[in-house]
Amino acid sequence: MILTFASSKGGVGKSTTCAAVASALALAGERVLLLDLDQNRTLQRWSKKAPIDGLDVSAIEPKDFGSVFRDNANSGEYDHICIDLPGSREVTLFKALARSDLVIIPAQASEPDLREALVVAGDVRDVRETTARQIPYRLLLTKVYPLRTRVTDFAYAELARLGLPLFRTALVERSAYREMFLNGQPPTVSEAGKGAGLEITNLIEEIKAIVAEQEPELRKAG
Ligand SMILES: Nc1ncnc2c1ncn2[C@@H]1O[C@H](COP(=O)(O)OP(=O)(O)OP(=O)(O)O)[C@@H](O)[C@H]1O
Ligand SMILES: [Mg+2]
Repeated sequence: MILTFASSKGGVGKSTTCAAVASALALAGERVLLLDLDQNRTLQRWSKKAPIDGLDVSAIEPKDFGSVFRDNANSGEYDHICIDLPGSREVTLFKALARSDLVIIPAQASEPDLREALVVAGDVRDVRETTARQIPYRLLLTKVYPLRTRVTDFAYAELARLGLPLFRTALVERSAYREMFLNGQPPTVSEAGKGAGLEITNLIEEIKAIVAEQEPELRKAG
């Protein structure tokens, strides 16, 4: 699967979710390449703290994205490529969207985050038209308060009104996600089978189901 974690807004949880998903896939025995396109190199630093077998993390310059992606996708070395983007709308965003099997758009349950998510969703639809590929996308609510609040109610109502497709799984505000960048441990290790670990496992299940649904379409196109 080619998974892109995208949002034009910073700090919404792109890198956290990308690292958690990529490491969980690798820990399950799949071969994963994570492309870190954010010049802050958050994920390259993270990967050095507690390297995981089967997970390669490569920090690349935006100008090299096309060739690096092509070489790795064609190499047959990887089952999945996860792409972590910077929180801005630049050319790599569009290049990554065009190659994605699924675009994951993290957003906090707030009005500005949902507006930005809407912008990225529009970008995905534009790229769909120009590439004639399906490119599904889903919003992922992140840093959600564990208790239901007026803000989360607003977010769900607003998403329904805007018609934005949403993952059933939401990522709750949990220390396991923050600690991942401190000690390198992914949530599926630090909270295996519970809390953040369970959220990531459920999220991956949803991701795989969405991508599997597209496959007959892709085969037809190919
Ligand atoms: N579910 C969560 N619970 C608690 N903290 C979280 C959660 N998701 C992300 N964070 C924290 O929020 C901060 C921003 O997350 P992250 O770096 O993943 O966002 P980003 O979208 O990649 O930001 P940028 O656009 O700057 O790259 C980090 O400190 C991260 O540890
Ligand atoms: Mg980031």
